[in-house]
Amino acid sequence: MNAPAKTDDFVATKPAVPDNVYAETVLAVEHYTDFLFRFRMTRPAGFRFRSGEFAMIGLMVGDKPIYRAYSIASPAWDEELEFFSIKVPDGPLTSHLQKIKAGDTVLMRKKPTGTLVLDALTPGKRLYMFSTGTGIAPFASLIRDPETYEKFDEVILTHTCREVAELKYGFDLMEEIRNHEFLSEIVGTKLKHYPTVTRDPSYPNQGRITDLIESGKLFTDLGVPPLEPATDRGMICGSTEMLKDTKALLEAAGLTEGANSQPAEFVIERAFVG
Ligand code: A2P
Repeated sequence: MNAPAKTDDFVATKPAVPDNVYAETVLAVEHYTDFLFRFRMTRPAGFRFRSGEFAMIGLMVGDKPIYRAYSIASPAWDEELEFFSIKVPDGPLTSHLQKIKAGDTVLMRKKPTGTLVLDALTPGKRLYMFSTGTGIAPFASLIRDPETYEKFDEVILTHTCREVAELKYGFDLMEEIRNHEFLSEIVGTKLKHYPTVTRDPSYPNQGRITDLIESGKLFTDLGVPPLEPATDRGMICGSTEMLKDTKALLEAAGLTEGANSQPAEFVIERAFVG
């Protein structure tokens, strides 16, 4: 005879959140284009990171979590966390993540990491942040961190996208800084934004950042001297090809790649995807 089944064998249990993962609440979502959005979520008490680092962000899909590396776009001092994301229609995570709403739960692994941090650069005068697409995210963090302006006299954020609509997040950040109670004063005139597009003839600023470095147009437009290892530092975030090509140009100018363990003149985020 079969023993009667215990009732709790039939209770559907929610998959438990593992010890190394935070479960946070979405606070706001803003869609920029069919392919880009940002969201803000609660920041767990005790979660520390350095501006420019990334974390593994995830969602429960069915009964399994799916994670991807996401640069934290908010600065280290912010009480909330911000992320800027692409939407890939059949992407394992982003096809779900793009549907989140305020009140939903997002998972985040507890340990942030990354190389786009001020500590990985040797002291310099001018900091270039070269980004394409969602590669602007770690710089959204760093340009809102007062420490960036303690360490550098001039900060140049370049952002290249295919179309003008994709530049909007960068423009919003600049406006937020200009209107911010304490950041506006700290940043002053130190931050320069250099947006360009490559597939939208309607916009005046045209071209890949690599072409603009090579031709020298970037420097004449900004009114600064060409790249110089004694004064200039760089951070690069974009597609694999963009990283490779930009790195080659910085090396040709005499700058050396650094890391957390060995600070030098420029750094690259290789964990970035898309
Ligand atoms: P382009 O339109 O000429 O390919 P993607 O969406 O493909 O990642 O591209 C984002 C932006 O980065 C686009 O403006 C694109 O220009 C530019 N880009 C792509 N590959 C490179 C590269 N190797 N070096 C510099 N910029 C690049």
